[in-house]
Amino acid sequence: MAAQMEVVLGVIILGFLFSVRGIEGRRVGVVESFEYTGISCRAHTVSIKDFGGVGDGKTSNTEAFRNAVVHLSRFSYTGGGLLYVPAGRWLTGNFNLTSHFTLYLARDAVILASQDINDWPLAKPLPSYGHGREAPGGRYTSFIFGTNLTDVILTGEGGTIDGQGEAWWRKFHGGKLKYTRPHLVEIMHSTSFQISNLTLLNSPFWTLHPVYSSNVIIQALRILAPVKSPNTDGIDPDSCTNVRIEDVHIVSGDDCIAVKSGWDEYGIQYGMPTKHLVIRRLTCISPYSAMIALGSEMSGGIEDVRAEDLTAINTESGIRIKTALGRGGYVKDIYVRGMKMHTMKWAFWMDGNYGSHPDGHYNPKARPVVQGINYRDIVAENVTMAAQFKGISGDPFTGICISNATIGMNPKSKEEPWTCSDVQGITSRVTPRPCNKLLHANVVTCAFPKESLPIDEVKLKKCVYKVKNNP
Ligand SMILES: *[C@@H]1O[C@H](CO)[C@@H](O)[C@H](O)[C@H]1NC(C)=O
Ligand SMILES: *[C@@H]1O[C@H](CO)[C@@H](O)[C@H](O)[C@H]1NC(C)=O
Ligand SMILES: *[C@@H]1O[C@H](CO)[C@@H](O)[C@H](O)[C@H]1NC(C)=O
Ligand SMILES: *[C@@H]1O[C@H](CO)[C@@H](O)[C@H](O)[C@H]1NC(C)=O
Ligand SMILES: *[C@@H]1O[C@H](CO)[C@@H](O)[C@H](O)[C@H]1NC(C)=O
Repeated sequence: MAAQMEVVLGVIILGFLFSVRGIEGRRVGVVESFEYTGISCRAHTVSIKDFGGVGDGKTSNTEAFRNAVVHLSRFSYTGGGLLYVPAGRWLTGNFNLTSHFTLYLARDAVILASQDINDWPLAKPLPSYGHGREAPGGRYTSFIFGTNLTDVILTGEGGTIDGQGEAWWRKFHGGKLKYTRPHLVEIMHSTSFQISNLTLLNSPFWTLHPVYSSNVIIQALRILAPVKSPNTDGIDPDSCTNVRIEDVHIVSGDDCIAVKSGWDEYGIQYGMPTKHLVIRRLTCISPYSAMIALGSEMSGGIEDVRAEDLTAINTESGIRIKTALGRGGYVKDIYVRGMKMHTMKWAFWMDGNYGSHPDGHYNPKARPVVQGINYRDIVAENVTMAAQFKGISGDPFTGICISNATIGMNPKSKEEPWTCSDVQGITSRVTPRPCNKLLHANVVTCAFPKESLPIDEVKLKKCVYKVKNNP
């Protein structure tokens, strides 16, 4: 590892970057400099090449990635470590992250997930789900995985993490999988996690899954999967507190963002809600699913979600609440403002009869509470149905507020624009005229909290690095 010493270079924080490219470049190889904004900067920097990495798209780099992370984990208490991935196609099996660690992908760096099933170890089901989401047993470990960590960053100049999900989708459709498919990135039981300035491509299953975590910043991502790929959700904040998602563009085969908190009796027992979630400047294309779904797994509760400046194009529904008897839990204090939609089946959808249970042991008397749902400043065009609101008989969804919404209907649509049952609330300045189950008021402005959340107060630092890449 002698070569590695040469790349352990200092960090200049908020300093000037002296251009040494010319001089040093000729002497010791190419010097690459880069910078990122992050929750932390790191004192130690290595390149995947120092661990024998080969970016030819064919050589397996599993050992290189695992060894590099183990090496950098030694610097957890002495300034932290950054793993630099230069341009190239870096094939690898799954690997774990460590604390006080940054994974940095150069612009043309692609980390490619191995398609050899032996590279995907099995893990236990999540306690709040009791089962794998699509098979009773365990689940494949996520491609990039971290648990019980603090201060972790995945970032870059728009480099790509490619799950090569197609083989998984084919096996899933063929009924050939015994276990639940892996996520592309999963962070569990962790605090202070940032993922930014990357492209996440073709996940086998849900793409980005922070679970049982807090203080999560998700910024400037492109998340892409074919619109017919199965269950390729974009981002699934699951039993997480203080999450900020901004400037994200998602094209996916399932919900662009699905907010979750555990499944039926397992989620009720685990009792960990998702709360204090901010979503802003999201664009979504998902013809068969929602821009933002709340549920269907919401048994630990979902509370205080603030979403603004949203754009959905050619998407099935804008905001969708999915739940069922047996879920228990709650969805409450949801605030949405500033939403543009074009070519939608439903602008809004709430469904109290979603079904989908982990097993036969759920308690049908465990009623979900849906309460305090606020939508305002909405402009939509070419919509087939404005809203379908179906609460639960004997368990109505209450406190629904919609104000200042102009929903342009597809002139060819023959559907009723609004269908409502078992819901209560108020609307103001909404066209077309909402169902009579909701009161019509003249001048009501639905709530959106004024005070900011702690996650919005987190300021990112500017970190500047130089890495010598030996030729
Ligand atoms: C990754 O972490 C999990 C959970 O701690 C562990 O079971 C697994 O062995 C780790 N994998 C590697 C390659 O270290
Ligand atoms: C990770 O954290 C969870 C929750 O605090 C704890 O139950 C679990 O034992 C921890 N796992 C490890 C490997 O430390
Ligand atoms: C990361 O994305 C932000 C927001 O789009 C942008 O301002 C910044 O320049 C990007 N940083 C890098 C290193 O590409
Ligand atoms: C309107 O939506 C329909 C699908 O409901 C679609 O076929 C049509 O192309 C859309 N029109 C425009 C102008 O986008
Ligand atoms: C109504 O919504 C539109 C579109 O978001 C916005 O531009 C306008 O300011 C809103 N009007 C009021 C009175 O809030």
